[in-house]
Amino acid sequence: RTSTAIFAEDAKINNMIDLDSPKVVNTDTLEAGEKKVYCRCWKSGTFPLCDAAHVEHNKACGDNVGPLIVDAAKA
Ligand code: FES
Repeated sequence: RTSTAIFAEDAKINNMIDLDSPKVVNTDTLEAGEKKVYCRCWKSGTFPLCDAAHVEHNKACGDNVGPLIVDAAKA
């Protein structure tokens, strides 16, 4: 694929999260020893946290996306 494909309407990644917003940005803070699992497939019903919707997405289209797991070290 060429870089122009990235801007094609059919290449849109987000089809359900804050669609009225010009840019979806989330911030979060982790406590020491806390772990969070963040969605990277844009299909989660609990976005920005992963709800395992990526599993169904990968099955449906052969993709291989998965979450970002962040683990804050204990102080
Ligand atoms: Fe999107 Fe898990 S639901 S990465």
